[in-house]
Amino acid sequence: MDQSENQTSNPRIAEGAKTISDLVEARLSRRGLLGGLVASGGLVMTGCVAVEDTEGAPLTEAPSSDETLFKFDEIARGLDQTHHVPDGYRADVVLRWGDPLFSDSPDFDANDQSEAKQLQQFGYNNDFLGFVPLPADETGAARGLLCVNHEYVSTLLMQPGAADDYPTSMTPDMCLTEMAAHGGSVVELKLTEAGWAPVVGSPYNRRITAHATPMTLTGPAAGSDRLKTTEDPEGLTVAGTMNNCAGGVTPWGTWLMAEENFNGNFLGTLEEGHRETENHERYSVPSGWYQWGRHFDRYNVGKEPNEPNRFGWVVEVDPKDPNSTPKKRTALGRFKHEGAESVVAPDGRVVVYMGDDQRFDYVYKFVSAGRFDADNPDANPDLLDEGTLYVARFDEDGWVEWMPLVFGEGLLTPENGFTSQADVLIETRLAADLLRATPMDRPEDVEPDARTGKVWVMLTNNNRRTEDEIDAANPRADNKFGHIIEISEPDGDFTATQSRWEILVRCGDPNVAEIGATWNPLTSDEGWYGSPDNCAIDPSGRLWVATDGNDDTGAADGIWAMETTGERRGTSKAFFRAPIGAEVCGPRFTPDGETLFVAVQHPGDGDGATFATPTTRWPDFNDAVPPRPSVVAIRKKGGGPIAS
Ligand code: FEO
Ligand code: CA
Ligand code: CA
Repeated sequence: MDQSENQTSNPRIAEGAKTISDLVEARLSRRGLLGGLVASGGLVMTGCVAVEDTEGAPLTEAPSSDETLFKFDEIARGLDQTHHVPDGYRADVVLRWGDPLFSDSPDFDANDQSEAKQLQQFGYNNDFLGFVPLPADETGAARGLLCVNHEYVSTLLMQPGAADDYPTSMTPDMCLTEMAAHGGSVVELKLTEAGWAPVVGSPYNRRITAHATPMTLTGPAAGSDRLKTTEDPEGLTVAGTMNNCAGGVTPWGTWLMAEENFNGNFLGTLEEGHRETENHERYSVPSGWYQWGRHFDRYNVGKEPNEPNRFGWVVEVDPKDPNSTPKKRTALGRFKHEGAESVVAPDGRVVVYMGDDQRFDYVYKFVSAGRFDADNPDANPDLLDEGTLYVARFDEDGWVEWMPLVFGEGLLTPENGFTSQADVLIETRLAADLLRATPMDRPEDVEPDARTGKVWVMLTNNNRRTEDEIDAANPRADNKFGHIIEISEPDGDFTATQSRWEILVRCGDPNVAEIGATWNPLTSDEGWYGSPDNCAIDPSGRLWVATDGNDDTGAADGIWAMETTGERRGTSKAFFRAPIGAEVCGPRFTPDGETLFVAVQHPGDGDGATFATPTTRWPDFNDAVPPRPSVVAIRKKGGGPIAS
């Protein structure tokens, strides 16, 4: 979700990196520590040198060939009401908002939605896509479970009448429908000659929502007083998850749902001097993008000041057990989690990479204490409850320093307001501020590749960075088009606390010099893009990038195939184009590389767009039906791995 326009203006955050520094100093000063720690080197400032000048061993392999790794004819740049794929490919709409998932699901009627109906149907604004293979059926048809995050709802596009006198138009029932459209879906898919299709009524099918799916808080913050509410006096159980943006699939086949912009779902005012004031301000809570707090105390911070602390986590779900209780894994920190892709390090520990998607926020990784046993993958189901959370400092010399967020170490002490690891995790952002992590240009997906030891960091954009705030890892002021950083973990050791980094590409139009894009000159006129958001690594190890904000260039968002090695490193090719108004999420390949699932989020959006006046009615193109966020399956006609 691109919140660049509707993020509320918390002045301490909006003013950027310098303001974060000021925030740290104010916090330290207030606690009587300013001066001594800075003077003693307890705080380390980063510099402002272009990364292209970094010293040290080159990160990439020697060029081998100028031949593209991606065999397809790229599509044209453009913007219209539907989607596009290259010649020789088919794109099938597999699941749409409102599609039935259960044998007794009601038919979709956008003019007559309700909470009860929505609980039985595919949710809104699909984002993350995970694919968990199942054994083929008795006919040999391939099967799998698609795990889908429903990040948020586009109220004015989704709800008839909402635009009339908004926000007072929002009734309690309308709010409940929205809560039921959030969360996630598990859907069994089957591949036949007609393509992928949902198995309606499959025993695996499941809806997870913002308000009606009990989940357990686990890990160091579980049971903290700061997680207790009227409904949950023990701080151990939450009724739902929301703003699930990207995510991940673990080596043991569970689904990680990353809670992102939860701040938008809260209204109200904390009482003056409340203990959570500084915490909530750092997370822009409450932002009031939704009206739920008008009717339900839970979403009103004046009435339930701890409720926001129960969101912003990574939720682990077992998609093969529809009765399982999802777990909010607090050890992975609390922030606006974009994604949570994981990898097994050579010593068996599991490493989860994560971005905090806000201007000037940070990149993290979690390293488990226990080890994963591939021969017994279910042996250690709670691996994500114990380990170390690190935040990244990108130094100008091309090294990343991964700094542990551990209570009692360094500045994370009672003198600075942390009385336990629970406090460090609940206020992950404030802890990372104190460690002087590098404020980044909105970190979105962070994707590791076990084969190469590379990690790709999508930095989508940051139009608030000033010339005074640029640094080596964020080298452009008013960075409208974002960039991609490549991290190389030494010898493929993902647990390393020091890694190498460099910029793969600064995005934007290479034909406009003042933009400062750095594409390989071999990039075609269709090949460049802006605002990288989600990404995927295909079974051949190739990188694919989905965008959210490329429409700022006048063209649709889409998916580009990105070369990372050889003479074509830094080129890309346009593969998929979304309909107008949409961003592209969730790219996910099947293990055979023959299907690419894509999530088309908020189609038909735009200035002034409403239920009655969308910018497109994709994918139904029926004047009686609004646009519907949908999952698309892209396959080569005649079969075979994509782009091969
Ligand atoms: Fe939900 Fe950061 O996009
Ligand atoms: Ca995103
Ligand atoms: Ca985004």
